[in-house]
Amino acid sequence: MRLSDKMAAIEASDLAKVRRMSLDYEARGIRVIHLERGEPDFAMPAFIADAIHAAMREGHTHYPALQGEAVLRKALAEKVRAKNRIEAGPEHIAVVLGGMHGLYVALRTLLNPGDEVLILTPYWLSISKLVGLADGVCRTMPAYLPLMEGRYPPADFAADLDRAVGPRTRVIYVNSPNNPSGAVVPREHFEALARVATERDLVVLSDEAYEDILFDGLPHVSIASLPGMFERTVTCYAFSKSYAMTGLRLGYLVGPADFIQLAWSRMILYTTNGIPAPIQVGAVEALRRGDADIERMRRAYEERRDAFVAALGRVRGIRAPKPQGAFYVFADVSDLLQGRPIYDLIAEWLEVGVAAAPGAAFGAEYASWVRFSTASALEDLVAAAQALERRYGTVS
Ligand SMILES: Cc1ncc(COP(=O)(O)O)c(C=O)c1O
Repeated sequence: MRLSDKMAAIEASDLAKVRRMSLDYEARGIRVIHLERGEPDFAMPAFIADAIHAAMREGHTHYPALQGEAVLRKALAEKVRAKNRIEAGPEHIAVVLGGMHGLYVALRTLLNPGDEVLILTPYWLSISKLVGLADGVCRTMPAYLPLMEGRYPPADFAADLDRAVGPRTRVIYVNSPNNPSGAVVPREHFEALARVATERDLVVLSDEAYEDILFDGLPHVSIASLPGMFERTVTCYAFSKSYAMTGLRLGYLVGPADFIQLAWSRMILYTTNGIPAPIQVGAVEALRRGDADIERMRRAYEERRDAFVAALGRVRGIRAPKPQGAFYVFADVSDLLQGRPIYDLIAEWLEVGVAAAPGAAFGAEYASWVRFSTASALEDLVAAAQALERRYGTVS
């Protein structure tokens, strides 16, 4: 069949490649601990499932409101006002089919063909593909690692951002807590970013998929809550990680009313024709009763981060900065690679039963890094680090 050249030119996901490779090792009887994928291992709280079942039986089975059900948008507006300090009403919210869809809807609604999006790196691997699908062009700027290691003064960050913005740049994409590094952008850096965005007349696309997973008491800051920023920020939230409901596909965009209106009346209409109504009922219940579950899972991720970073710290040749949020550990493995291609190392690790994602998927400059997901049982995380320690030796 004749297929779209544009679609065929998009590279398949590196994660899929690691998964395919791991099947060979598993077929040979090696037990592989899968740390390449970013999916909560927790079950969705049962009360959300009950609400969804009841909604279906009660007849929430017709076309949903395109912008999102009024009751859900009202609850979401209350949530973003109270928790994110964003001055939004229901008219500033559109319900989408998870974070991936939300970002695609946002980019399509914001970009003209050829417009640039400045992406801070390392970035979540799909964002570059989404920009391409939306006929945009990516520009990148390294930021999260020096930010996380506390060696990036806000003034330098602002100066670098200013230099990185080109004449066709329309949007800055920021993701805090960050996948894959676990960096959390401090308030002063958001203020610096806000100044640059205002001076250069840019929209900020803030991906807050991990807003509920922060460690060491760090606060989550939503850039749309800073003075003057609501009008130039689109924030994308998802229920996927916070409530361990990746399979239900629910998220929402928060932004100025003209953006929201165009997003739902064009993109949501013509891509999904609305978001499943029973899931929206479940989301209302999640917002009402889910806080204790969010906190239970957050604590578990923090405990796993501590255990895994400590265990990894004993492995010779791996340097892993301590994440401040999300559920990943991004590690420098250049000492183990010694110039070899990353997939040689991925294969070597599969041999001892550890699957990780290659760093180049998160930005070209991370070719000698790997990402581990800590959304796995603590014992598995420690066992994986110990397998690597046995293979490469202990730090002396
Ligand atoms: C940074 C980031 N944004 C958005 C998403 C997409 O979330 P969803 O699963 O709701 O599509 C992910 C998922 O891994 C992510 O890591």
